[in-house]
Amino acid sequence: MAEIVSVLSGKGGVGKSTVISALGYSLAAEGKKTLIIELDLGLRGLDLMLSLSDQIVFDLGDLLYGRCMLSDALARSPYTPWLSVIPAPVSPLKELDAGRMAVLLRELSLHFDFILLDMPAGLYLSPSLTALLADTALIVATPDPVSIRSAGKVRALLEEQGFTSHRLLINQFRWSTFKKSGFSNMDQVIDAVGSQLIGIFPKDEKGISFLIHGNKPVEGSAFLTVARAIARRLLGIYIPLLIH
Ligand SMILES: Nc1ncnc2c1ncn2[C@@H]1O[C@H](COP(=O)(O)OP(=O)(O)OP(=O)(O)O)[C@@H](O)[C@H]1O
Ligand SMILES: [Mg+2]
Repeated sequence: MAEIVSVLSGKGGVGKSTVISALGYSLAAEGKKTLIIELDLGLRGLDLMLSLSDQIVFDLGDLLYGRCMLSDALARSPYTPWLSVIPAPVSPLKELDAGRMAVLLRELSLHFDFILLDMPAGLYLSPSLTALLADTALIVATPDPVSIRSAGKVRALLEEQGFTSHRLLINQFRWSTFKKSGFSNMDQVIDAVGSQLIGIFPKDEKGISFLIHGNKPVEGSAFLTVARAIARRLLGIYIPLLIH
């Protein structure tokens, strides 16, 4: 059965789709059959980041409402046989049927080691869907007070629903801006959110540019090194935490 990992945030634009793409490549590099499902309905973007555009005919909406077979909606990465994606519909669905989604995940779980859910930002839908569907939640935040506060709200909403398997993932970290953020160290950030830290992605425009252009992952960047470490932590391997 696949481990289902939800990647969510309170504030939008913190980098969920960017980090989920890098984690997908990294789990695939570990030889794990990985599927990313894009739940940001109406805001498809992973097709561009993961170079899938010319393959996509069907999407998550078609799959949920029986308009295609499972295999028709799976887009396969051109760069690794271990990574597949089910893209979001380009137009928003009226609502996501959580029951249908749970049934679909049960079936998909038989075919993958990891299923990563790219959730929409915000407090309304993603925490409750995560509590219903996922085994683990990665709460993504940038190290600024507004994003950190919203991550704390996500954590609280998850716990209200009895879901405690959450980890904090900091993205776009830069020492120079962190010093101006009002936090004096990372422990204060962790306390403010109330979730254990799984990793810190640096702000690394060069390191993420392969995703912006839909290219093959470029090894050796600080960004991808962190993704590799987080993927291995998800596999239960001890990797010391580094701040680049
Ligand atoms: N570590 C990083 N270093 C530099 N830029 C980054 C990093 N992570 C994300 N970005 C940039 O931040 C912007 C938002 O990223 P992304 O679309 O992944 O966020 P998101 O949380 O998925 O947004 P949304 O809430 O709209 O779904 C993009 O322009 C992306 O290239
Ligand atoms: Mg996104």
